[in-house]
Amino acid sequence: MASKIEEVRKEVAELAQASPTAQELMQRMVRLLHERMLKCNWVGFYMLEPGAKPPMLALGPFDGAMTPHTRIPLNQGICGAAASSGQTVVVDDVSKDPRYLACSLETKSEIVVPVFVHGAVVGELDIDSHFPAAFTAEHQELVQYCAMLVGKKLEASGK
Ligand code: SME
Repeated sequence: MASKIEEVRKEVAELAQASPTAQELMQRMVRLLHERMLKCNWVGFYMLEPGAKPPMLALGPFDGAMTPHTRIPLNQGICGAAASSGQTVVVDDVSKDPRYLACSLETKSEIVVPVFVHGAVVGELDIDSHFPAAFTAEHQELVQYCAMLVGKKLEASGK
């Protein structure tokens, strides 16, 4: 029997096929991950604002409670760390990470994966969990796959 993660991976691949635009793919992807992955309690994209100086991440499609962090500079938060380094950041216990910007008091762990277009960071996929250390290597691979699909969709639309 396929694992939940394998099933969800197939479902997001189907979404990427079926979504006419990157915006629609992102909207449908956050909903799918939030509904299907029970420990993914907030799922959202932050995208770099075009031309902003200093560079700024702006909240994009998300599913979960509204966050106070609608715009995040690159030198702040786990979100800023992932976007400025171009690296996936996994935090097993957000209370021990001084970079963490609180979105919900219930959040215990977080993963942020950059989205690349032609090798440059254009945004990121951020997931918060109410459970400590919720994101295993398998989850990391799934979230990276999701971010890659969005990057490819943006590339296909000429971004
Ligand atoms: N926790 C993030 C901020 C965004 S909220 O989680 C939705 C951070 O530390 O950058």
